[in-house]
Amino acid sequence: MPKSVLDTFRLDGRRALITGGAKGLGRVMALALAQAGADVAVASRTLGECQETAQAIAAETGRKTAALSADVSLAADVERMAREAEAALGTIDILINNAGINVRGAAQELAEKDWDAVLAINLKAPFLCARVFGPKMAARGWGRVINMGSILSVIAIAGRAPYASSKAGVLNLTKVLALEWATKGVTVNAICPGPFATDMNVQLLQDPAKYKAFVDKIPLGRWGELHEIAGAAVYLASDAASYVTGSALFVDGGWTAQ
Ligand SMILES: NC(=O)c1ccc[n+]([C@@H]2O[C@H](COP(=O)([O-])OP(=O)(O)OC[C@H]3O[C@@H](n4cnc5c(N)ncnc54)[C@H](OP(=O)(O)O)[C@@H]3O)[C@@H](O)[C@H]2O)c1
Repeated sequence: MPKSVLDTFRLDGRRALITGGAKGLGRVMALALAQAGADVAVASRTLGECQETAQAIAAETGRKTAALSADVSLAADVERMAREAEAALGTIDILINNAGINVRGAAQELAEKDWDAVLAINLKAPFLCARVFGPKMAARGWGRVINMGSILSVIAIAGRAPYASSKAGVLNLTKVLALEWATKGVTVNAICPGPFATDMNVQLLQDPAKYKAFVDKIPLGRWGELHEIAGAAVYLASDAASYVTGSALFVDGGWTAQ
């Protein structure tokens, strides 16, 4: 008997790990996956924030949750994080590579360490995490990898050299991994958000002229509200998206439609 379409969005029995899941968009997506039925682990470099988020999600949803400390730009940390996630929840079915940073500035003003840090966290870390979890998903015949891209995966803004380069890379990493695991039941997709009011964007939020300049670029005429990322994550994590792989879902108020 085929499931009704809404049932295909359920994540009961699934186990998810969200990097950078302690706050911002990662926290919203972790809560959403738990509301859809998944047990969730959240990981970042700040264990206390992860613990607070994990406890809040467990209290709200009744799902099992775990808080993990890791710098996902380091292979050894990623391997330890994977062992701890599996010990806490069991095998991971859904990986959201969400941890990210931004260092803004004109190319000539940025230091080598700025470039290295952004590329390590935004682009190398999704590779490191996917190569730990993806093959295990493939061996079990079901899995979901969701990478956080950006509108800057496909457009450019001056002053964003490392960030835009990393997010463009994320999109092609998504496609390569999608091809590698296409026959194994593991889909790999990207979510590409427009601007959302998180800690990452404090600089823009505090500058009325920059804030307005962004709003003027958005056909919907406003920034995204944090909850508006949730549906994309649940969809791509679920059986409802079983024929979607190597794709990018833009949640950007129409910015990239122009
Ligand atoms: N907000 C937007 O407008 C927007 C738009 C497009 C794309 N995105 C993307 O969406 C994702 C989430 O962004 P956000 O705005 O929610 O950011 P955020 O509020 O600043 O949260 C980022 C999270 O990533 C974690 N993180 C950073 N470096 C890490 C590392 N090396 N290892 C482990 N965790 C690390 C942070 O925790 P610690 O620092 O404590 O480790 C934090 O929990 C990012 O990939 C971002 O590029 C955001």
